[in-house]
Amino acid sequence: MTVTAEMLEEGKSVPVPILHQSIEFTKNFMLMCHHSKEEDTLFPALERNGMPTESGPIARMLFEHKIARELSGKLEESAKKYLRSNDPGDLIRDIRTYVEHVSSHLTKENLRLFMMADMILKGKSDEVNRDLAASERSTLTELGKSRSHYEELVNNIESGLAPSQ
Ligand SMILES: [Fe+2]
Repeated sequence: MTVTAEMLEEGKSVPVPILHQSIEFTKNFMLMCHHSKEEDTLFPALERNGMPTESGPIARMLFEHKIARELSGKLEESAKKYLRSNDPGDLIRDIRTYVEHVSSHLTKENLRLFMMADMILKGKSDEVNRDLAASERSTLTELGKSRSHYEELVNNIESGLAPSQ
């Protein structure tokens, strides 16, 4: 995504399939898999083990997921606009905003929430991991996709954006 924004800023055009694949990854894998896994499995497990959901880290993360979904919607709209008008202004801005939001969200989760979850769910990690894997599987089934589809997508995007020699 950042590479896409940089290319657009430099006045280069981004191949249409790469743009579509980036958007699909953002919308489906990031939002559906990452966020749904937490919302359907991790957060309820933490709640059952005494962590409040109305306030504190879970409420904060839920709020940030909502923002991420909104930003991803805006990003998709501005990608369509770019494809129609060839004007990359909004798309560059929306990619930057989205990447910044999601990076800071993931950092917070890695540094704080997951550490707290490790302590709270001590001894229950097998059960939680099993539920997390099941949640990812059911989301992917709903999307009609597999994890390897998304791994391949990332490889395609990376190789599609690699500067040609
Ligand atoms: Fe999250």
